Amino acid sequence: MDLLGKVSVDVRISSEDVRAGLERDVRAGFTTSPKTLPPVWFYDDRGSELFDRITRLPEYYLTRCERFLIEGHAHDVASMARAEVLVELGAGTCDKTQVILDALLSAGDLRRYVPLDVSEGTLRGAVAELAKRYPDLEIAGLVADFQRGLAVLPSGGRRLVAFLGSTIGNFGSEQRHGFFGDLSACLVTGDTFLLGVDLVKDRERLVAAYSDHGGVTAEFNRNVLLVVNRELGADFDPSLFEHRALFNEAEQCIEMRLRATADHVVAIRSLGMEIHFDAGEELLTETSAKFTVGGISAELSDAGISVDAVWESPGAEYALVMCQL
Ligand code: AVJ
Repeated sequence: MDLLGKVSVDVRISSEDVRAGLERDVRAGFTTSPKTLPPVWFYDDRGSELFDRITRLPEYYLTRCERFLIEGHAHDVASMARAEVLVELGAGTCDKTQVILDALLSAGDLRRYVPLDVSEGTLRGAVAELAKRYPDLEIAGLVADFQRGLAVLPSGGRRLVAFLGSTIGNFGSEQRHGFFGDLSACLVTGDTFLLGVDLVKDRERLVAAYSDHGGVTAEFNRNVLLVVNRELGADFDPSLFEHRALFNEAEQCIEMRLRATADHVVAIRSLGMEIHFDAGEELLTETSAKFTVGGISAELSDAGISVDAVWESPGAEYALVMCQL
C-alpha cells in the first residue's frame, strides 16, 4: 500500500514571506496609536501548541460547544454537502475535523481532505496523524495564509469549505465583507460552506474565556512578542507585559492586549526601529468578534451565500451555520 502517495503538504508561504508580512505589520502597527499586531502572528509552532491547550481549558467553552454541535449534526452536514473534497481553513490540529470526515466518508463521496494552516509544524503533525487513521483518503495539506486571498482553494469536485472555531471572529467587519465576497466568487453552485461562530453573551463569561486562571491565554498572548524577537531580531522582554482581555461593547468583540508595566524602549534590529512603550500603554494583539445569528446570516446573504441551517448549542452560546452556494 502506497501511503505516502496519498499524503502531501504543500508550502505556499515561505519563511521569507512570513518575515516580509510580519515586517509590514510591525512597521504599520507600531507606528499607530494604539499599537497593534494582527493575531495571525500568534501561531508559530509554540503558539499553536498553546492555543491547543486553550481549547481544553474549562473557561474556553467555544471548542466544547462547537464539538457538541459537530457531533450532533455531522450527518446533516454530510448529507447537505455530499462533498468530494473537504477544505478546512485554519485547520490547526485537525481535531474537530475527524467527526466531519467520518460523516462525509460514510455518505460515500469524499475523496480528498485539504487542510490549510499558517503553521507548518502543526499542519505536518496533523496530516501525519490523519494519514494513519484514514489510509484511503487523499490528504493534501496547504501551508498558506488564506486571509491574503482564496486563490489557494483547490478546484475540482464538489467542495465543502469548513471554517470552524470562530476563527472568523479575528476578521473585522470590512475584512469579513471582503472574505465572504471572495468566497462567494470562488465557490460554485453545489459547493457548501460550514461556519462556526461564537455568539454574543454575558460579558463575564466572554471575558473569562480569554483570561483563564492557569494563565495559558496570557502565555499565548505574550508568545507573539517572542515571534517578533525571533523573526525580526527584536528585544522584547515579555515579563514587562501584562495580559489583558476585555469586551468592547460598541464593537461586540473581545480585545486582547499586552500592557507595558514600565516605561521602556524595544529595539527591532532588522527594521532599524526603536519603539517606545509608556508604562500602562497597551498593545492590541487580537480582536475576537462575537455574533448574533441574525447578524452573521445577513452578512452571508449579502455576499450571495445562502444560509441553509443554523444549529445553536444549549444556552445559545455558539452556532454552526451551514450555507449553500
Ligand atoms: C482561534 C481566533 C477563535 O478568538 O477565541 C483564544 C483565539 N485567543 N484565546 C478566539 C484565542 C485567545 C481564538 N480564535
